[in-house]
Amino acid sequence: MSKAEDRFKKIIAHCKEYGFIFPSSEIYDGLSAVYDYGQNGAELKNNIKDYWWKSMVQYHENIVGLDAAIFMHPTVWKASGHVDAFNDPLIDNKDSKKRYRADVLIEDHIAKLEEKITKEVSKAAKRFGDSFDEKMFRQTNPRVQANMEKIRAINERFVPAMENGQLDDLKALILELEIACPVSGSRNWTDVRQFNLMFSSQMGSASDGASLVYLRPETAQGIFVNYLNVQKTGRKKLPFGIAQIGKAFRNEIVARQFIFRMREFEQMEMQFFVRPGQEKEWYEYWKEERMRWHLALGIPREMFRIHEHDKLAHYANMAVDIEFDFPFGFKEIEGIHSRTDFDLGAHQKFSGKKLQYFDPETNESYVPYVVETSIGLDRTFLAIVSHAYTEEKLEDGSERVVMNIPPALAPVKIAVLPLLKKDGLPEKGREIFDKLKYDFHCQYEDKDAIGRRYRRQDAIGTPYCITIDHESLENNTVTIRERDSMQQERIPVDQIASIVSKRIDLRPA
Ligand code: GAP
Repeated sequence: MSKAEDRFKKIIAHCKEYGFIFPSSEIYDGLSAVYDYGQNGAELKNNIKDYWWKSMVQYHENIVGLDAAIFMHPTVWKASGHVDAFNDPLIDNKDSKKRYRADVLIEDHIAKLEEKITKEVSKAAKRFGDSFDEKMFRQTNPRVQANMEKIRAINERFVPAMENGQLDDLKALILELEIACPVSGSRNWTDVRQFNLMFSSQMGSASDGASLVYLRPETAQGIFVNYLNVQKTGRKKLPFGIAQIGKAFRNEIVARQFIFRMREFEQMEMQFFVRPGQEKEWYEYWKEERMRWHLALGIPREMFRIHEHDKLAHYANMAVDIEFDFPFGFKEIEGIHSRTDFDLGAHQKFSGKKLQYFDPETNESYVPYVVETSIGLDRTFLAIVSHAYTEEKLEDGSERVVMNIPPALAPVKIAVLPLLKKDGLPEKGREIFDKLKYDFHCQYEDKDAIGRRYRRQDAIGTPYCITIDHESLENNTVTIRERDSMQQERIPVDQIASIVSKRIDLRPA
């Protein structure tokens, strides 16, 4: 097992042990690619949602929120293209009987070539030091050039095959690239077939004419069909946005990598409605703005990568992914898409209702264009916990696992810990806890030695521990211990709230 795989396993185990994430219906051996968030996971998830909602809705005067239903009229999904085009090409290996996404097999092959290039570049960077000219090296090194040429040649066939649904071409590519099944090692593949990712169910009983309904595969359509309701009732002028957080469902063929690819997950999406012709400008704006949002959490820039799409979803004319360096490599965490008037135009056509906006500045009516930001809540959760998980050797030789979760997002903000369970210290602790609990999610703990209690709080990422000792009774002071540095300082009880508030503030400077 590689170091990264080992670390990932430990993160998954830690998430379970400390009440962040449990497999769904675990007593029945779980349900594939479905997970439940435990007591600490639910808090962290809510804090991420709150941070996103505030950043989008509260800090932008021209963005409002929405909470649309999961069930929608089935024609929505016909209009949006999901019935016809929300497919993954799947392929089976006849020997292992394992099922794969054909496009993922090819993408993984490309990623391996990219990895070779990256290795070559970093080797050279080390060799040449300060004088290294990466651009020149990439343009002239024969091995880098050969791999780049291979990637170009693959993409030249892969992109149109995906865009046009040419399944035979995908299979031909898999055979030509000699891609083997990771389980059986064989190249004994079935043909590639399309597989629609939407879950469906029946609404109503069969006797009164049940109709087919889908569990929404993205939250965005709830925004599109409500765009005029919001625009009119909110008297919104373009450009304006509608934001929403909610569940989405996809019958993923290859569900793996913990909560990275789930069958039931949550999205935080925002559709920004703009005048046609201004989409490029807003697309660039949202690319930058969203990157700023990620970086404000204090995660280093090098953990993120921008990936411009070669192959576009059926609704987009420009698209970019923000990728995060997960324990299993760089993968998409958020997509920013210029969706043109594809969705509103289609809903106008299928519903027969006008979805035009009257622009008082130009005296024209038109269907707005849309720039979308779409981030997975679960993937953001995974990015935060996988970056936060840290094993440390301390000066006294002991070890600790600390979750360096951004303090503003930490499940518990303050732990109130009387040093001893006697001499009036618990009573003083309770008094402090009862004051703080209205402003912060706090935990009160008086069992076990203080060192063990610190370790438990470190393991769930609590940024501040307040310790009550005998001196507290004399002069109304406590010690406050900071999670990452483990530094302690003595502060008056009535300053706890203001000190912690200041340190967990995520407002833009
Ligand atoms: N409305 C556009 C849309 O849905 P997407 O790229 O398919 O675009 C957006 O999904 C985000 O939703 C992704 O960047 C990812 O973070 C998250 N996401 C998509 N499928 C997911 C899955 N199966 N499990 C967890 N998150 C997922």
